[in-house]
Amino acid sequence: MRRVMLGASEIETSCLGFGCASLGSRVGAREGLRALADAFDKGVRWFDFAPLYGGGRAEEIGGEFLRNRVRSEVQISTKVGLLPSGGGGFGLKEAILPIARSAVRAAPALRKAFKSANVQPARALDLTPELLHESLERSLRRFGTDYVDLYALHDAKPGDVLREDTLRALEDIVASGKARAVAVASSEDTAAAAIAQGRPYTAVQFPTPAPGLSLDGVAAAQSAGFGLITHSVFGVGGALERMKQHMAEKPGFRALVTARARGGDVHEALTQLLLERALTLNSGGVVLLSMFSEASRRQNLALADFEPSAQGSGQRLALDMAVAA
Ligand SMILES: NC(=O)c1ccc[n+]([C@@H]2O[C@H](COP(=O)([O-])OP(=O)(O)OC[C@H]3O[C@@H](n4cnc5c(N)ncnc54)[C@H](OP(=O)(O)O)[C@@H]3O)[C@@H](O)[C@H]2O)c1
Repeated sequence: MRRVMLGASEIETSCLGFGCASLGSRVGAREGLRALADAFDKGVRWFDFAPLYGGGRAEEIGGEFLRNRVRSEVQISTKVGLLPSGGGGFGLKEAILPIARSAVRAAPALRKAFKSANVQPARALDLTPELLHESLERSLRRFGTDYVDLYALHDAKPGDVLREDTLRALEDIVASGKARAVAVASSEDTAAAAIAQGRPYTAVQFPTPAPGLSLDGVAAAQSAGFGLITHSVFGVGGALERMKQHMAEKPGFRALVTARARGGDVHEALTQLLLERALTLNSGGVVLLSMFSEASRRQNLALADFEPSAQGSGQRLALDMAVAA
């Protein structure tokens, strides 16, 4: 597994991270723990959690996973600011956004990948200093550890990031050693605010921009020396529908995908190209993936030693060029 140093956070870890949003909800504890162990055995070291995830159960299951491992060999990221709403399991059907529904209808072959788009009904909390401290203590208890590697403001707005009391609380948390680094896990706009602020923030997390969209947010994080963690490799908000349209409308894009399609499996070719693109775009950071099923784990972990050809967003990527053509 290729190793990366997450920018100014100075955390060394694996280039692929395991996203645990479905752990404890869509994926049961036993099956989830097997998947985490298998990924760990194959070199994955970064595991992404939040109090929201798995209907509030993911961190506790993560604690079981940690119990059998040397703590310093696992990098744990968690967040603050969102909790499950409605107390209990997730109505996934109700949770998936209308735009997601139309993408699923338009691309039945990708339905499985989209089914668990990790859109979870959530209650947003005010990011007060008290919440920042208390939520971290609760997460540490659930994990059964005394520190997390990264602590991120979950879906925060740009204004939240700059609040004086928030900044002081995050500084105290880093000084206490209970989090090695602090970050925002939100949109590119919020990431831009954290990058402009600088310390205490040393890392940002946001969705992989879909092919054809601006890569400026990625470039900004990289040139500021921030650790970058990206997710949503296969797109959010109708990105898959756009891919299907590109297949129909853009000969260059269609040629690129079909050239990779062994035995005509366009779906596999598209996911493969999107994975390679995500790793190339975020060549110095962590690319998060949900990989609880054996099939996705196999395809994703096959890229463990993939060497990104271009240094991030400085160069136009093949899929982006094909979309722009
Ligand atoms: N605000 C935030 O910070 C934020 C937001 C969104 C996500 N995240 C993090 O990022 C993680 C990943 O979320 P995501 O939305 O980007 O999910 P994702 O990795 O795109 O996974 C979504 C679905 O695609 C499947 N999949 C994964 N690899 C595949 C492959 N190679 N081929 C076909 N299907 C594949 C997954 O399979 P499996 O069923 O095998 O898992 C899952 O069902 C989350 O778990 C969470 O930790 C953070």
